[in-house]
Amino acid sequence: MRFTNFRNSVNPVFVTAPNIDTIVSLAKRRGFVFPSSEIYGGLGSAWDYGPLGVELANNIKQAWWRWLVYERDDIEGIDSSIILNRLVWKYSGHEATFHDPLVDCRECKSRMRADKLEGYFPEGGGPSDPNARIRDGLVKCSECGSTNLTEERFFNMMFRTTLGAAASDEDPTALAYLRPETAQGIFINYLNIQTTMRRKLPFGIAQVGKSFRNEITPGNFILRTREFEQMEMEYFVKPDAEHLKLVDEWVALYLEWFKGLGIDAANLQLHEVPKGELAHYSKRTVDIMYRYFPERAEEERQWEELMGIAYRTDFDLKSHSSKPADEEGKRVNADSTEDLSYFDESTKQRFYPHVVEPAAGVNRTVLAVLMDAYSEKTNDKGETRVILKLSPQLAPIKAAILPLAKNKPEIVGMAKAIKRSLQPVLRAVYDDTGGIGKLYARQDEIGTPFCVTVDHQSLEDEAVTVRDRDTWEQERIKVADLAEHLQKRLKPYPVATPEVS
Ligand code: GAP
Repeated sequence: MRFTNFRNSVNPVFVTAPNIDTIVSLAKRRGFVFPSSEIYGGLGSAWDYGPLGVELANNIKQAWWRWLVYERDDIEGIDSSIILNRLVWKYSGHEATFHDPLVDCRECKSRMRADKLEGYFPEGGGPSDPNARIRDGLVKCSECGSTNLTEERFFNMMFRTTLGAAASDEDPTALAYLRPETAQGIFINYLNIQTTMRRKLPFGIAQVGKSFRNEITPGNFILRTREFEQMEMEYFVKPDAEHLKLVDEWVALYLEWFKGLGIDAANLQLHEVPKGELAHYSKRTVDIMYRYFPERAEEERQWEELMGIAYRTDFDLKSHSSKPADEEGKRVNADSTEDLSYFDESTKQRFYPHVVEPAAGVNRTVLAVLMDAYSEKTNDKGETRVILKLSPQLAPIKAAILPLAKNKPEIVGMAKAIKRSLQPVLRAVYDDTGGIGKLYARQDEIGTPFCVTVDHQSLEDEAVTVRDRDTWEQERIKVADLAEHLQKRLKPYPVATPEVS
């Protein structure tokens, strides 16, 4: 096993998590993420966010919303339904094409996504038809390495449900889907938002919320699950905009945003999705990849998608519009009641806006942030401690108020009063469940930037000791100045606006 993130071999100190399992165990031990339905034996690949995990995920979503919807002047936010009219998924193309190729291994009986297997794509020669490649023994089982695989067959990944108390499971008029992407809720509301908010191109619409996919091979903790959360933004532009360049510009902006969340640039990489692997709506997609598997010996196997930035053309708005007709003059969409075109006052032209879409996963961002923040440090006694160096804006708890003596009512009273006074401006907790060393260690492990200790002297001088998570340095601060002092030091890392050509 090779760890790329050892600082040195004499005193091994991790500067990021050595693997996902380290985070799984920290997440469960400290209340970030628990296996779902555990008392009933669990539910494959479902996870529940605990008290600290929900705070971390909320802080990521809020940072994203502030960055796009508040700090820019060209983006609106919405929150659409999870269950939409089935016709949305017919005309978006998901009913016909949102499926993964599935194969079974005849040797080890594993069921896998074929397009994730070694040899599936014809880069190294051979026939391009996947089933011909499987028959020729070019595709390998990811579990046992056998090439004795069934032919691929397609499996639609949308979760089905039926609407209405009286509906039977087989009634096609009651059939509905849980959304597999938040994006369609944006497209079907495009005209509502453009007109009510009096928007002119270019402008964007952002949405954060749950999506559902019946993944064939979920796994790797919260990296690939069947229920997950997305932060998506559709950026609407004119048909003659420089779309491919816009993809690069959004890639650059997101790289800066991830760095602003505390993610090391060395753990981020770009992947230009090959033409043959593009989604049905995309003309170009660039994925931002994170090094989720640092333990893997081959560098190219260490990466997995954190988010994608796609040029979706005018595909979606056109597909959902009532007017477009085929060569014989027949409406392509016979069900829509609206034309989602845009009239450009300056050129007096009507057209369907084109779209550049940055689509990020909340859960994958949570995992990347946790892995990147993970570090180990050895104290004077030679004990190794975990320190979660979360960016201050993301830390679930900003300050822990700790009494040095929990049997001294005056000290306890003062510590609780300080906690209450800080609460309106930052998330603070009071903790007296252990000795001071244990309490410091616990807060370090959950990424709390500051511990505030109330001691005997505090009763005399109205001052407390503020301990820094990363340096373990301590300073004495007057209680009257504490809120301002902490707020100043808790400022988010700056997100620079990158130079884009
Ligand atoms: N609207 C475009 C779209 O949905 P995508 O690449 O399929 O694009 C965007 O999904 C992001 O959503 C991914 O980059 C990933 O972060 C997240 N995501 C997708 N499927 C996921 C899953 N099964 N589990 C966790 N996150 C997922």
